[in-house]
Parts: sequence; structure tokens; C-alpha cells
Amino acid sequence: MYTRDPIFWRAGAVSSLTVMVAILIALTVNTIGVISTGGANVPPYTVINQAIGYVDDDSQHEYVPTIGGSDPLFGHVYDEHQAEALIREGKLVIQSRACLDCHSVFGTGAYFAPDLTKAWLDPVWRQMWEPMTQTHTRADAMVAFLMEPDKYPTWTREMPNLHLSRDEAKAVVAYLKWTSSINTNGFPYGFQADPDTPKGKQAALR
Ligand code: HEC
Repeated sequence: MYTRDPIFWRAGAVSSLTVMVAILIALTVNTIGVISTGGANVPPYTVINQAIGYVDDDSQHEYVPTIGGSDPLFGHVYDEHQAEALIREGKLVIQSRACLDCHSVFGTGAYFAPDLTKAWLDPVWRQMWEPMTQTHTRADAMVAFLMEPDKYPTWTREMPNLHLSRDEAKAVVAYLKWTSSINTNGFPYGFQADPDTPKGKQAALR
């Protein structure tokens, strides 16, 4: 009988393996295009020079980030290399101070304190931390909070002072501004962005 012939089974195994490898390669190439910096879901680092918003997209039934007009971070326009270096430093600060012992970013880390992926868009900066820290921009309020979080508690859980320098705090803010611009397919679920952040669906990232 044909099915007793080992050649039949060998040919079946080889052809299904070939198809699977081809699918895996296609999926990998597609994923890299979506998740690399400058890819479909992840804006280039220079996005920190622009206003970032968050709108409920009816067609996708989830929130998507929007990239608006010029909104330089700390009043400075960073070129490609400066922006990348700053964001890289912010990531290193987050890693070296073990922020993820309490927080998560993109859902990875601990769940003691809020996920930080969209922290830049949190209404609390404008509503509470700007008046508390006597600053006038979200970026400055974040720096003031990150340098002395024990001085500005809003919640029953307090963040300890990790003695970040001003430069380290600024780098973290740049990193968090960039992560807030990434289309995370609605993650974290139920996050309410500041209604005052720039709108404009035409600029929505897909
Ligand atoms: C021991 C736990 C702990 C560690 C470690 C920690 N945090 Fe926090 N963090 C908290 C808590 C608790 C809050 C909420 C504070 C509040 O609302 O008053 C918070 C709030 C924040 C916020 C505001 C989030 C928002 O949108 O409301 C940011 C940003 C932040 N932390 C960044 C950091 C960074 C960066 C580090 C590392 C340098 C860090 N945290 C380390 C516990 C921690």
C-alpha cells in the first residue's frame, strides 16, 4: 500500500517542514518591519520633538497614538543621534535602577506600581504633579517627580527616592515620551490619556 512506503512519509515531512519554515521567515520579516524603530508601529526616536496624543480609533476599537506638530522636549530639538543617545540612556537608567522591580514597561516587570509605557500621556502630570512641583510643562513635572518622588506622593503607594540626577531624570522622560508614541494595540487596556493631549486622527499611527 502507498502509505506503507517510507518515501511517502519522508516527502510529507520534508514538504510540511519547508512550508512551516517559509511561514516562519515571512512572519519574522513582517514582525521586524512592525516592531523596529521607524517601523509601522514604532516611530523614530526624533518623535520626542513632536506632540504625542492618544485617540480612540473607531475602526480599530482601540486607542492609537497620534503624532502632532512640533513640541520639542525641554525646549530642545534633538537630531537623530542625540535623540537615540538620550533614549538609550533613559533605558539604561531604568534598567540599572531596577525600576521594573515595581513597574512594568510593555507589560514586562512587576505590577506593584503603574505600567510606564503610556506614563507620558497620564492626565496626573497636568492635574496634580505640575501644581505640586510648581512646574509648567509635563516634562519638567516628570523630572521634578523622578528626582524626588517621595516629596510628591499622589497615591497610597509611594515611590521611593532613587536619587536620580537631573540628567538621568531627563533621559527617562525622553524614553517615556518615545514609548508613549508606540502603537501597542491598545495596551495597557483601559488607560485613560490626558484629554488635553493633541488630537487628530489623520496623524494616527497604524
Ligand atoms: C519600590 C517601588 C518603585 C520603584 C523601584 C520605582 N517606582 Fe516609580 N512609582 C512607584 C509608585 C508606588 C508610584 C505611584 C506614586 C504616586 O502616584 O504617588 C510610582 C510612580 C511612577 C511614575 C508616575 C507614573 C504615572 O503615570 O502615574 C513614574 C514615571 C515612575 N514611577 C518612574 C519610575 C522610574 C523611572 C523608576 C526607576 C528609576 C521607578 N519609577 C522606580 C513605585 C516605584
